[in-house]
Amino acid sequence: MLRHLVTAAAAAALTASAAGPSFAQDTVKVGIVQSLTGQLTAVGKQIMGGVNLYMQQHGNTVAGKKIELVVKDDTTVPDVARRIAQELIVNDKVNILGTGITPATFAIAPLTAQSKIPGVIMVSGTSSATERSPYMVRASFTLGQQSGIIGEWAAKNGSKKVVIVQSDWAPGAEATQVFSEHFTKAGGQIAETLKVPLANPDFSPFLQRARDANPDTLFVFIPAGQAGLFVKQFVDRGLDKAGIKLIGPGDVTDDDDLPNMGDGIIGTVTAGHYSADHQSATNKAYVEGFKKLNGMRPNFISLGGYDGMHLIYEALKKTNGSTDGDALVGAMKGMKWESPRGPVSIDPDTRDIVQNIYVRKVERKAGELYNVEFATFEAVKDPIKAAKK
Ligand code: PHB
Repeated sequence: MLRHLVTAAAAAALTASAAGPSFAQDTVKVGIVQSLTGQLTAVGKQIMGGVNLYMQQHGNTVAGKKIELVVKDDTTVPDVARRIAQELIVNDKVNILGTGITPATFAIAPLTAQSKIPGVIMVSGTSSATERSPYMVRASFTLGQQSGIIGEWAAKNGSKKVVIVQSDWAPGAEATQVFSEHFTKAGGQIAETLKVPLANPDFSPFLQRARDANPDTLFVFIPAGQAGLFVKQFVDRGLDKAGIKLIGPGDVTDDDDLPNMGDGIIGTVTAGHYSADHQSATNKAYVEGFKKLNGMRPNFISLGGYDGMHLIYEALKKTNGSTDGDALVGAMKGMKWESPRGPVSIDPDTRDIVQNIYVRKVERKAGELYNVEFATFEAVKDPIKAAKK
C-alpha cells in the first residue's frame, strides 16, 4: 500500500515537472546516467569520452541555449539508475536524459514516458529498449544488427559446427537468438550454448566445455570491458592453437582492449558498426581528438555518447531551442548524419539507429592491432523489429 502511495506521488511529481514552462529557460539541462563505477565502468568511461569530445568540439551553446550537463553514476545497478533519473527529472528539472546499459535503460524508460522527456539511448544494444517508451531514441546499436550478418558470413566461410559463449543478460540473449537463426538457416549447426554470468566472469570452465564439444568455431558475445580477459583465457586454454575460429559481434575485439591482446587474436573476424581503423576523414579526426582528450582509443561504445550528443544538439537546432519532448523526439526521427562510424540515420518508425555493419578482421597495422574492415552491409536496421512487421 505504502509502495503504491509512493509510486503515485512520484508519478505526479514527474508529470508536474514536465508541465513547467520549458521554453522560457536559457539553459537546456541534459542528465547523463551512466555506469561510472561497478561492473561495467569501462562502458561509462567510453561514453563520457564521447560526450566530452563532442562538447569540446561543438561548444556548449545551441540555438541560443546553454547546454548544461548533469552527469550521474548509476554504479552499474538498475535501481540506482531509476532513482537517479527520477531525481534528475523532479529536482534538477533536466530536459533530456542520456541512458546507459540495457538494465539501466529499461529502468529509466517508463520515467521518460511519464515525464515526456526524450531519453537518448547511448549504450543499450537490446532491441526492445526503444519500445518501452515513445520518448526513447537509440544512438547506440543493436546486437541483432551485427549477429545476423556474422552468422551468414560464418556459414558461407567454412564454419559448420559452432559453440556459443554468451554473457547471460538481455543483449547476450539477442545476440544468440539472431546469430542462431541466421547461421542455422544458412546450414550451420549449433552444438551448444553456454551462458556466462555478467558479474566477475571466469571464462575458463566455459572454454573447456566449449573445447570438449569439438566445434570448428566459437561465437562469442561478451560486453565491452571483458574482452581482454576473455581473449587471454581463450589463448591460455590453447583454443587458438587448436584451430577453433573466434567470431562474434564487435564486442570481443573491442578497440579499447585490442591493443593489449597479443597475436593470438590476429585473424579473428567479427561484424561491428565501428572500428577505430574505419577509413574516413571524419573518423581520423575523431580518433585523434578522442585520444588527445581521453588518453585512450575510442571503441564502439564511445560513439553512443558522441552521436547521442549530436542528436541532442541537432534536434535543439531544429526546434529553435524548444525543449518540448514531443518536438525534440519528432526532430530526431529521420535525422541523418555522417558519424565517425560511417553514415547513420534514425528510423522514424522505430527510433532505432540505422547504420552500416562492417565485417572486419584483426590485423597488425603499423605495429598496432586493429579491426580492418573488408566488407560493408549498408543501412542495416534492427532485425528483431524488422521480423515483427
Ligand atoms: C548493453 O547494455 O546492451 C550492452 C553493453 C555493453 C556491450 C553490449 C551491450 O558491449
